[in-house]
This record gives sequence, structure tokens and C-alpha cells, in this order.
Amino acid sequence: MTYNIKKVGVLTSGGDAPGMNAAIRAVVRACVYNKLECVGVYRGYEGLIEGDFKDLNARSVKNIINRGGTILKSARSKEFFSKEGREIAYHKLKEKGIDALVTIGGDGTFAGASVFSNEFDIPIIGIPGTIDNDINGTDFTIGYDTALNTVVEAIDKIRDTANSHSRLFLVEVMGRDAGDIALNAGIGAGAEEILIPEQDMGRGRLIESLKRSKKSGKTSSIIVVSEGDQIGKNIFKLASYIEENLVGYEVRVTVLGHIQRGGSPSCFDRVLASRLGVASIDALINDERNVMVGIRHNKVLSVPFLATKKGKKELDLELIRVADITSL
Ligand code: F6P
Repeated sequence: MTYNIKKVGVLTSGGDAPGMNAAIRAVVRACVYNKLECVGVYRGYEGLIEGDFKDLNARSVKNIINRGGTILKSARSKEFFSKEGREIAYHKLKEKGIDALVTIGGDGTFAGASVFSNEFDIPIIGIPGTIDNDINGTDFTIGYDTALNTVVEAIDKIRDTANSHSRLFLVEVMGRDAGDIALNAGIGAGAEEILIPEQDMGRGRLIESLKRSKKSGKTSSIIVVSEGDQIGKNIFKLASYIEENLVGYEVRVTVLGHIQRGGSPSCFDRVLASRLGVASIDALINDERNVMVGIRHNKVLSVPFLATKKGKKELDLELIRVADITSL
């Protein structure tokens, strides 16, 4: 081990996601297994700058695999964007004797990690944790599967009341730049229409499509709108537009919001988090740095931070086709 790592810091940063605790648990226990010390850093990069640390051992992470949120808390740090902030963070790390970091979060977390690692020659490994599933180089991010299940469960309930009152419901789901939650939960919940940022359907075509559904005998409808979608930017305006242009439907809006970020992680997310947590320490031991550990075709792999940056996602035409056919 060129870097001769003895003490690893672990932090969660950015929006929290179910399964982050399972990842922390795996990182801590993989450290113990490999005879490395492990230190928890509270509130992401903010805690790094403030030296908000706690030594962790195998028992510190008991009974958390099933818990949502993150025991280390999370934050989006502005100070870490500045060189001065990162310099303070570096000195805090040195004082504590931490020689490597595992950062759990999204692409903002990895961008910060990449700059920090290059500036101060600190090995850093990233673990993808965000409900949005919007990180390049991994098929899945920790928290995404749980969020999908939360959304589907919520829409199932909305469907009951939509059906009873013959109403049209617009359901806004999260996904700042990616329609993954909307598209997959939309198919899973049997939505009539799914509006995602990767595809601009246009209001006119939406109304035409809803008219066709009504004509075919549908008495209620569910439209899933991704928060990043152009049309759905303001879901309440969209609701008014539909009411004005489509006779015979009462429209209601539900914004699912942060309930999508909470809750006990699904088994899929727990297993993914455990695999990536162990892989992060393996990567450090193998002298890797500036990489995210992710999953591709069910195999764990390392991806350079630079390659994880989310770009405009390609539209998944197969899923779109399935959504179109099954919503007839
Ligand atoms: O990145 C995860 C996410 O939940 C996005 O889907 C959403 O746009 C954003 O975070 C919300 O951030 P905040 O919790 O800061 O409002």
C-alpha cells in the first residue's frame, strides 16, 4: 500500500438517501476487518472544515442497516467550494491523523472530493448515494430503489381516490436533472402519462393524448411529472392549463417531495450499499484514488470521478415504448 493508510474518514454529503447508513456500516466494518481505524465526519464537508469527528468501531454502527437518513448527517457545504475552506479541512484531517476519505453522495460530492484530493494528495473513494440515479458510471445509486418503491406505494393510494372521484392527478416526483424516478415509478404504478426532462412532450400533445385516453373509456388518470421536466416546472400552472383545455376532468396535484428521501431502505439498497462500502475500502487498500465505486451489470467496478459527472441523460427508448404500450 503506497499510501500506507491507517485511518479512514467517512462522510455523507448532499441530499440524503435511504441506504446511506448501510453504506456507513459497511465502510466501518470493512475498516475493522482490514485493521484500519475509522472516523465518522459529521455534516459532510462542513464537518470536515469544523473538525466534527467521531471515532467509529464495529459496534458504533449496530442497528443502523434498516434506518433511513444518515447517522453522520449531511449538508451541502458552500465553504468547501473555496480554497481557504479546503485548506482548513486538510489541516483538520491531518490533526486527527486521517489519511484517506470515503465520501458518500452525488456528483457534487465527487466534484468536491476530486478537487480536494488533487490539491492535498489525499486518497478519496466515492460511493454513489442519491435517490436521483443520475450518476454516470453506475447502473444504480444507493437510495434510488427505495425511492421508487415509496413513489409507487404513494401513487397506488392516489389511484384509489382518483378512481373514486373520476379525477386526473398530477403527481410530482423528485429528480433534479434525471427522469429515472418518474419513468420507472410511472411504469410501475401504471401512470397514463410520464413527463421527464429528457423528453419534451409539449402541452399540446399531452392534451391530445389525454383526450384519446378519455375517449377510450378511461375515467381517471395519473400523470407522473418529474420535478426537472420543462412542462412540469410549475406543476400547478400545468394543472390549470389541463383544466382549461380538457373538459370533463377535475384535476388535482400531489407533490410527493421529501417523503421520497426518507424511510427504511429496500433490500436492494441495503445490499448495494454493503457491497459498495466494502469495495471502497478494497479500493483504498489497492491504492486506488479519485474514483467512485459503482455497479455495472451486477459487477462492482471503479470509475474515475471525472467520468461520473452527470451529463444530459439519453432517453431510454425501450422504457418509453413500454410506458406507451402499457398505458393504452
Ligand atoms: O439530489 C436529490 C434531491 O432529492 C433532488 O431530487 C432534489 O431536487 C433535491 O435533492 C432537493 O434538495 P433539497 O433537499 O436541498 O431541497
